[in-house]
Amino acid sequence: MTMSPKIPPKQIPASDKKKVVVQYFDAIGQRYDLADTLMSFGLHFFWRRAVLKHLAPAKGSRILDLCGGAGEFARRIAGTGAPGMTAVSDLSRSMLAAGKRRTREKTPENPIQWVRSDAEQLGFAENSFDGVIVGYGIRNLSDLSRGLHEIQRVLVPGGKLVIMEFSIPQSRWLRVLYHWYSFWVMPGFGRLITGEEAPFVYLAKSIRTFPPPKKVREMIASAGFVRVTNQPLSNGLVTVYSAIKQERSCHTPSWGPDIP
Ligand SMILES: C[S@@+](CC[C@H](N)C(=O)[O-])C[C@H]1O[C@@H](n2cnc3c(N)ncnc32)[C@H](O)[C@@H]1O
Repeated sequence: MTMSPKIPPKQIPASDKKKVVVQYFDAIGQRYDLADTLMSFGLHFFWRRAVLKHLAPAKGSRILDLCGGAGEFARRIAGTGAPGMTAVSDLSRSMLAAGKRRTREKTPENPIQWVRSDAEQLGFAENSFDGVIVGYGIRNLSDLSRGLHEIQRVLVPGGKLVIMEFSIPQSRWLRVLYHWYSFWVMPGFGRLITGEEAPFVYLAKSIRTFPPPKKVREMIASAGFVRVTNQPLSNGLVTVYSAIKQERSCHTPSWGPDIP
C-alpha cells in the first residue's frame, strides 16, 4: 500500500520541491482530470479553448505540451490534425500513464509521444519545437527562470510559448471568495475526488507564493522572448502568457498576429 503524501509547509524549500511535487501528482494522477473539471466547475474547458487560440499551431508544426501531465492540451492539439508532431513531457509516471491510457481509449493510433523529462533539464535538443504550451505547470518548478531558459532552448527561433497559470482574481470580493474556497473547501473536495488532501493544500499555497503576472512577464522576457503578453481569464483566476522566442536573423515567424 502506498502512503499518502504529507501536507506541505507554507513554502516548500526549493531543494525538496521537485520530489514533493512529483509525489503529489503521482498520488492523484489517475483522477487528476476529473478533479480539474469538478474543482474548476468546468471553467477549464473555456480556459483551454482560449489558450489554444493563442497557440494556433500551423500545419506540420512540432508542439511540446510541457508539464503536460495526462495530456489534456496535447490531445486537443493532436485532435486538430494540424501538428506534424505532438509530445507530452512530464516527471510524474502516474500522470503520463493516465494520459497514455486515456489517449488510447479515444484514439487507438495514439498520435502523441510521451516523454518522462524534467522541465528544468529537458531531454530534447535545441530548436526541437515550433511551439511549447504549459498548462498549470510553471508554478510547480523549483527554478522558474531555469525552466523558461530550457523552453527557450528547445524552441526554434520565432517559435511560440503559451502558458496558462493560476493567478489571484482582480476583484476584491472574488478574492475573498477565492481564498475561502481554496483554503476551506478545495482540500476536502479534492480528498473526496482523489482520496488525497495534501496536493490540494499545496495547490492553494503555491498559487499564493507564485509571482504576479507582471513579474512572470519580465522573467519570460529575460529568458530570451519578445512580444510577451499576459491576458487574465475569468477575472484573473488564470492568466495566459504568450511570447515568441527571439529571432537571431530576420526570419519571419510562422505564427499569426497576437490575440489582444
Ligand atoms: C497541475 S499539473 C498540469 C497538467 C496539465 N498540463 C494540464 O494542463 O492539466 C502539473 C504537472 O506538472 C508536472 N511537473 C511538476 N514539476 C515538473 C518538472 N520539474 N518537470 C516536469 N514536469 C513537472 C507534474 O508532474 C504535473 O503533471
